[in-house]
Amino acid sequence: MSLQQRKILLGVTGGIAAYKSAELTRLLKRAGADVRVVMTAAAEAFITPMTLQALSGHAVRGALFDPAHEAAMGHIELARWADLVVIAPASANTLARLAQGLADDLLSTLCLATTAPILAAPAMNRQMWTHPATQRNIELLTERGVRLVGPDSGEQACGEAGPGRMAEPAEITAAATALFASGALAGRRLLITLGPTREPIDPVRFLSNRSSGKMGMALARAAIDAGADVTIIAGPTAQPTPADVKRIDVETTAQMHNATMAEAAGQDIFIATAAVSDYRPATPAGQKIKKTAETLTLTLERNPDILGDVSAAFPALFCVGFAAETENLAEHARDKLERKRLDLIAANPVGDGLGFDRDDNSLEVFWPGGHRSLPVTTKTRLAQQLIELIAERYQESLEKLPLP
Ligand code: PMT
Repeated sequence: MSLQQRKILLGVTGGIAAYKSAELTRLLKRAGADVRVVMTAAAEAFITPMTLQALSGHAVRGALFDPAHEAAMGHIELARWADLVVIAPASANTLARLAQGLADDLLSTLCLATTAPILAAPAMNRQMWTHPATQRNIELLTERGVRLVGPDSGEQACGEAGPGRMAEPAEITAAATALFASGALAGRRLLITLGPTREPIDPVRFLSNRSSGKMGMALARAAIDAGADVTIIAGPTAQPTPADVKRIDVETTAQMHNATMAEAAGQDIFIATAAVSDYRPATPAGQKIKKTAETLTLTLERNPDILGDVSAAFPALFCVGFAAETENLAEHARDKLERKRLDLIAANPVGDGLGFDRDDNSLEVFWPGGHRSLPVTTKTRLAQQLIELIAERYQESLEKLPLP
């Protein structure tokens, strides 16, 4: 497990433990995360933004409305950008303000605006930690899903001893890493198709679509975090491959079909995220087509249906389809679920700038006798939610199998 390609927003608040944020930034970066730091005004009394800027490689943010940043990555984009918000140190004051839902500085506003999980590392004097007000705030925050790491107990900077010391940076890094791991698919083998396919018209032109591969790569990462052994069959995509994933590159639907049929044996779950061309030019030209005629007619022929062929050839495989629809989403998705004999289908509205080549998406998920809506969020979060749901449905399907 690593934090490779994870986007972590590190909130640093006012407390003597802020000096440890420098080491934390270094460890998170070393684990592969992209770290952006937000400091409260009080934090700057303990550590300079320059130190954290040098270590994170990005300008440190402090002001809620910063014209320079609002033009590029404004505070709402920053909230959306994060896969995880880590607040370390989290002072008693910051915890109280988060519990109240205040939004009067950049960090508290980001915490309200983000859908990413929040991990807080409290750090304060032991009396402040044990005070009923702080304990009530902690209760409120944990009820709302905020996770805590620490505080540790021991000698404190104020000369007292007891609970309230910030957890060590290594412990916070481990807690952040563990947050991405669910183990729901531990030991399972998962095959994913992703990205577009390209169908040659001549040696320099092709038919394709707008798929970027982002949804599929996010699923691959979420599946790795859930403990699966993941193979992806990728059409042309510029997206980086998550660590520990086996990647097979293809270009045409025929190549994706061959590679998928060859890899499907021995897999437990198949997810078809790829946006596959349903048709291809029947006879691609051997040389570049010249601009001589006023009109040009291409004859297209049907491509094989990869998902349909896999579900027919491997009936024991748990098959998950995607459905990209511009209208009648539920109706078309349910039809594909049945026609392709799938265990589950995730339908997304596309067109009008939705679905393809974006960082966010929404899904309506259907399975025989069931349905769940996964509202708009980042593809990273959506992939985690879908993988959890797939793991649940897959486990249920195993429990229904007759005993040997
Ligand atoms: O890659 P991104 O930019 O992140 O965008 C994500 C996405 C919009 C591409 C993704 O969320 C998505 O919807 N993928 C499926 C796109 C698609 O081809 O949908 P479809 O409704 O045409 O096909 C239904 C299912 O059959 C899909 O699982 C598809 O992979 C599969 N199929 C389709 C045709 C074919 N010849 N073979 C197939 O396996």
